[in-house]
Amino acid sequence: MLNKIKESVDFLISRGIKSPEIGIVLGTGLGKLVDEIKSNVSIDYSDIPHFPVSTVEFHKGKLIYGDLENKKILAMQGRFHYYEGYSMEQITFPIRVMQFLGIKYLLLSNAAGALNLDFKKGSLMLIDDHINFLPDNPLRGLNYEEMGPRFPDMSRPYSSELGEKFEEMAKMKDITLHKGIYVAVMGPNFETRAEYRMFRGFADAVGMSTVPEVIVANHMNLPCAAISVLTDECDPDTLEPTDINEILAKAAIAEQDLIQLFKGVVAEI
Ligand code: HPA
Repeated sequence: MLNKIKESVDFLISRGIKSPEIGIVLGTGLGKLVDEIKSNVSIDYSDIPHFPVSTVEFHKGKLIYGDLENKKILAMQGRFHYYEGYSMEQITFPIRVMQFLGIKYLLLSNAAGALNLDFKKGSLMLIDDHINFLPDNPLRGLNYEEMGPRFPDMSRPYSSELGEKFEEMAKMKDITLHKGIYVAVMGPNFETRAEYRMFRGFADAVGMSTVPEVIVANHMNLPCAAISVLTDECDPDTLEPTDINEILAKAAIAEQDLIQLFKGVVAEI
């Protein structure tokens, strides 16, 4: 894996990516932040050696490098999901590459369903902690000691320093930002009522991503923060059929708040 990472890194350096400070992962329906990045480097994942290619049509699958609030940003427009059939190693490979390129912080976003019924659709949630309900772990198998320990600590997977910046920024910009626990499931189907009822017992939001990337970031001692855009309310007692188009529409509306928050926090880092 180390050789593959180095080949990807060398390629990206040859394409002009130099000392990025902050890595950003943009989730489903949340790619517009890249319009705010002053950039002349945009690379299709399919051009990058060893990068998996995104299969979900609304994921653009591009790496964007440029300036946002006077910081050097490396943004993934589109991520890889376990339900697409990738291995955990493939899903998290870009995070390792970004860390080798030099990012010091990782900010992630995703679309998620609200299990906590006090959290309304269209609002944002700072992920305070997570539960890995995926049937796999990106650190399974041989450990690469050069990258991190065999048994990484997971007592604080999300940086409290970054989390506080998000909370302060939300207050300043008058944006509702809940805080809660995210449970990652495999998908691709949405949950049954019985599953929502079960998850509600131990989490505030449910989605199909983010946790693998956060586990790998922690393995490499890379501070991270993640925001869920809550696109639907998962009330088992009143559940209507879940429609991906409605989820995307909700994500597009809430995306404006997400962009404001991310820009504000990037400026403060
Ligand atoms: N479940 C899983 N993933 C999701 C949901 C959901 O209800 N909403 C958006 N992503």
